[in-house]
Amino acid sequence: MNGPEETASPEFGKLGRSRPTIVRGEGAYLFDADGRRYVDLGATHGVGNLGATPPAVVEAVREQVGRLVHLGSGYANPVRTAFLERLLGLLPSRFSRVFLGNSGTEAVEAAIKIARSATGRPKVVAARRGFHGRTLGALSATWRRELREPFEPLVPEFVHVAYNDPAAFDGVVDERTALVLLEPVQGEGGVHVGTPEYLRAARAACDRAGALLGFDEVQTGLGRTGRRFAFEHSGVVPDLLALAKSLAGGLPIGATVTSSEVEARFRGSHYSTFGGNPLVCAAGLAALETLVRERLAERAAALGEVARPRLGALPAEKVREVRGLGLMWGIELRDRAAPVLAALQARGYLAIPAGSTVVRLLPPLVISESDWDGGLGALEESVRGG
Ligand SMILES: Cc1ncc(COP(=O)(O)O)c(C=O)c1O
Repeated sequence: MNGPEETASPEFGKLGRSRPTIVRGEGAYLFDADGRRYVDLGATHGVGNLGATPPAVVEAVREQVGRLVHLGSGYANPVRTAFLERLLGLLPSRFSRVFLGNSGTEAVEAAIKIARSATGRPKVVAARRGFHGRTLGALSATWRRELREPFEPLVPEFVHVAYNDPAAFDGVVDERTALVLLEPVQGEGGVHVGTPEYLRAARAACDRAGALLGFDEVQTGLGRTGRRFAFEHSGVVPDLLALAKSLAGGLPIGATVTSSEVEARFRGSHYSTFGGNPLVCAAGLAALETLVRERLAERAAALGEVARPRLGALPAEKVREVRGLGLMWGIELRDRAAPVLAALQARGYLAIPAGSTVVRLLPPLVISESDWDGGLGALEESVRGG
């Protein structure tokens, strides 16, 4: 029952990898069909910030599912309103409008459409190594060639500039540019932390050119980096903010947040049938309340500082570089990541790669100090080749 995933899985596009079959979760733990317990260091791909079954989210979903599951966004709903108000209450006052979809890629797609429509301009500037999703617009902003090539031609007028080079926007962000789209910390691209100088340069270039600045915080948002939103580290506030992953405590959601000024310039329409359904909004409201009540961003910051010196002390003959903050870390190895991930799994810890040589840690923000300590210890042993 708990053997390697079958190559003949009916799931489209799944490769036959040696991964356990997970049937249950609790906090930072995931359990396989034989009852073996794993600590999640990334298995939920950054969705499970609050853990596998956050009690307040479970309770809110139970209550809402018996009241009203779905309602088109043409009708008002108090749960949706409460969720949106709670979300906006955590953000700077410039943000006052939210488009709700169902995934990260949809949140990015909406940002691209809003920017193009509101500016009347075609060009989108994104960064090398960036990842923004797999629908055609978001994929056009994504960098990795092997993700893009089979689907070309992609959407025209997307260009990529160097990440963390403040001069990269010079001569590129111009009067034809609708949007500069960046991750404040690049996740899939190997965990690269954007410098404040770089993000400030992006803001300045957008302001000079009359373009909009969009931050993709699908992976970094909601406490992951030690602040509720990663842009708080630099103080650079974007015009468009894409959120998803853990926003609704594990239920599918995407949100594109912007200002009433941008909305006023938007022409056309954008809509998603399931976006903003009451069930997900009830989960989202409970998730945001949990994030604030349990001070999870602060927790991520503290646990990140525990990790920093230990990860920094990993042997240089095995590790090229360690990057990250809060509970988002990339350990770039000199060799392939797969054997280290397998060694971690054998020790009861599930982490994920970011490219072929980076081990990525994205544990739930509720992970206990002892499990985080155990995970770092298991990583040290696995990297050393044990
Ligand atoms: C920064 C970023 N943007 C967008 C996405 C796409 O999100 P989704 O898979 O929910 O479409 C991801 C997914 O990992 C991501 O990390």
